[in-house]
Amino acid sequence: MAKLELKEIRHSFPVKKQLQPVLGDISLTVGEGEFVSLIGPSGSGKSTLFHIIGGLIKPTAGEVWLDGKQVTGEKGLIAYMPQMPALFPWRSIEANVALGLEVAGESRSSALEKAREWLPKVGLGGYEREYPHVLSGGMQQRVAFLRALLSPQELMCLDEPFGALDALTRLEMQAWLLSIWEQNKRSILFITHSIEEALFLSDRIYVLSNKPSTVLEELHVPFARPRTEAVMLEPAFIDMRQHIQRLLRKERANV
Ligand SMILES: Nc1ncnc2c1ncn2[C@@H]1O[C@H](COP(=O)(O)OP(=O)(O)OP(=O)(O)O)[C@@H](O)[C@H]1O
Ligand SMILES: [Mg+2]
Repeated sequence: MAKLELKEIRHSFPVKKQLQPVLGDISLTVGEGEFVSLIGPSGSGKSTLFHIIGGLIKPTAGEVWLDGKQVTGEKGLIAYMPQMPALFPWRSIEANVALGLEVAGESRSSALEKAREWLPKVGLGGYEREYPHVLSGGMQQRVAFLRALLSPQELMCLDEPFGALDALTRLEMQAWLLSIWEQNKRSILFITHSIEEALFLSDRIYVLSNKPSTVLEELHVPFARPRTEAVMLEPAFIDMRQHIQRLLRKERANV
């Protein structure tokens, strides 16, 4: 049974009294314990799709199903990391990380304890009692990532979680996410602009078109797990990378 099913999702935003279609017709699934990535042109509606999955926006048409139940418009069912870190400036770093657990009903003290245990693992040991404004953009992103990671919901939706990181930290975080995911296999839906990141991490990749977006292609990523960076040098990896690059380049020419 698929954990998440999006059925024929369409969405339009009112712009200057006209409806502008953003999501054309999106159907996709994320299976139990599966790692699925979405890649597509800027403005194709990926973040909008996450807002729909999280119940923040009601789609113009279509349905969201989670664990076999229709949940369109319902909030609080997914662990979500937005594209902008969205930290609360009046909460300390540890209290920001603890928030997802607290909202889900865990006691403040045990949520804080977990936050303190995990912060050093993303290179933020020593910043527990600081406030978000003292962190760089990439550091804030890691705090938001940790908050989503520690939230208890089975499905995690991560919107370009590593976009603001330098190349080496990004590789480190990817490998770290893979090792955590390989241990506990939560379902993940992951937005990225990096073709290599999508290929390195995912079981499947959906490539989206320009808006109003549809699924251009669904790819199964065949590389064995556990994966290491070495996979990026395999000929099959390079072939798939070029294939996706060509798809996206063709889309860009269609703007
Ligand atoms: N609240 C809104 N009102 C009107 N238009 C919106 C709203 N939110 C998003 N849009 C429009 O919908 C389109 C898709 O936006 P969205 O943020 O979902 O794209 P995206 O695929 O996440 O892009 P990126 O890769 O740059 O993050 C854009 O044209 C954007 O201007
Ligand atoms: Mg986006």
